Amino acid sequence: MCMSPLMPSDALCCYIFLGLALETMAGQSLWPGDPIPCRDDLARAAQKYFNKTGWAAEVGVYQGRFAAQNMRHWTGRYFMIDAWAHRPFDDSSDKNFPQAEHEENLRQARARVRFARGRGWPIRGFSLDVAQRFADGSLDWVFIDALHVYEATLRDLEAWYPKVRVGGLVSGDDYGDATDMEWMSTSRFESGVSRCLGFGTTTPSDVGWGTMRAVNQFAREHGHQLFVTYFLDCHSYPAWYFVKG
Ligand SMILES: C[S@@+](CC[C@H](N)C(=O)[O-])C[C@H]1O[C@@H](n2cnc3c(N)ncnc32)[C@H](O)[C@@H]1O
Repeated sequence: MCMSPLMPSDALCCYIFLGLALETMAGQSLWPGDPIPCRDDLARAAQKYFNKTGWAAEVGVYQGRFAAQNMRHWTGRYFMIDAWAHRPFDDSSDKNFPQAEHEENLRQARARVRFARGRGWPIRGFSLDVAQRFADGSLDWVFIDALHVYEATLRDLEAWYPKVRVGGLVSGDDYGDATDMEWMSTSRFESGVSRCLGFGTTTPSDVGWGTMRAVNQFAREHGHQLFVTYFLDCHSYPAWYFVKG
């Protein structure tokens, strides 16, 4: 009888055991389908390949357009986490509106997911506080899209990554950076984006994005192969994603 691969009692059994273990390890972080073109396709991939606990979370929801889009494909519960609050402590101007505007955004977000009849769960609160209310491994899928400066993105990753089950989908928006990266300078990114879109949108240097740095660093440190969407027909910027192996 072979109790575990580490305590072999018969050679054949342990050979099979080791084979399975290696296969699982090698396969854990593999992306299961075709690469994702644009962020609106993530929900279909999440639904097809990752729906086990039936729980997903979007961190940073704004007016709920992306949440509503996702909930047309994702059949489970969808937590919508946003402070919907002015952040006086925050230097960034990024979506740091006066309170009245946040109230209107929350109203719109609620209205947009009403069609899903209770599957959408808006939670008003700061990302790191709300993360603590979720059990580790409880989510199939997280989409991180709150504050995009380096420190905040890294803190969100650290807070939400444990909440995703092993084999779940970790993803987020706006893969760009106000710092020149190994292969991509900020000016190249910005001219590429505006060339594609043909109109002025917020750029990484406008609001000091550090998403690319934070996500690259986090994925590398945790041994995950990082993927980035390759088509901008649904949104102005690439999204990022990896499987929590
Ligand atoms: C880029 S918008 C989200 C857009 C949305 N995901 C979409 O695609 O339609 C960022 C949102 O994050 C929220 N936010 C910023 N910092 C936050 C924090 N620390 N905790 C929770 N929400 C935050 C803002 O209120 C804003 O609504």
